[in-house]
Amino acid sequence: MRIAILASGNGSNFEAIVQAVERGEIQGEVTLLFSDKKEANVLKRAAKYQVPAYSFAPKQFDSKEKYEAALCELLVKQQIDLIVLAGYMRIIGSQLLQAFPQQIINIHPSLLPSFPGLHGIKDAFEYGVKVTGITIHFIDDGIDTGPIIAQKTIDLDPDETLQTLEEKIHQLEHQWYPKVIANIVRRRSNQI
Ligand code: GAR
Repeated sequence: MRIAILASGNGSNFEAIVQAVERGEIQGEVTLLFSDKKEANVLKRAAKYQVPAYSFAPKQFDSKEKYEAALCELLVKQQIDLIVLAGYMRIIGSQLLQAFPQQIINIHPSLLPSFPGLHGIKDAFEYGVKVTGITIHFIDDGIDTGPIIAQKTIDLDPDETLQTLEEKIHQLEHQWYPKVIANIVRRRSNQI
């Protein structure tokens, strides 16, 4: 199974997934990393693990549709079976959704449908929640919406800070995103 990871930022989830592949826990290969941000740290991590990396930004195109058409063409050409969003901070448009039905998953650092968007951890923390967590889901055309695959929770400590919560959330993500991907790959490989 050929997996593509799309990311816009740091890439810690990218690295956790690639390490799980290297340990043989995910029966697939990370065939490519795409970033819409040329300066994103995830590109350095891709180089470190020798994962072929591609990067272009919407502003290089006349329209968002053309940007997405180029991304779609890349993923189709590379015969990608599963698209994993790992901190990819853009809405996926209809072209990609139609080309890859039930093949695009996302991770979000809150218990959706609460606190979608760019700042899930901070928004939940500032709201004063006592429990938060992570959500892994198939995507649709909304922001952090679509059928939920898995959720994991964290209880906030009385002396929790935003920083300690961020660390806990990221640990949970690195533990569970590879496991969920491994399950999806296993199930789908058995269907073929
Ligand atoms: C992760 O916490 C992920 O859940 C979040 O971006 C971070 C990326 O971290 N995604 C979203 O907020 C999606 N709305 P990383 O670049 O270190 O993997």
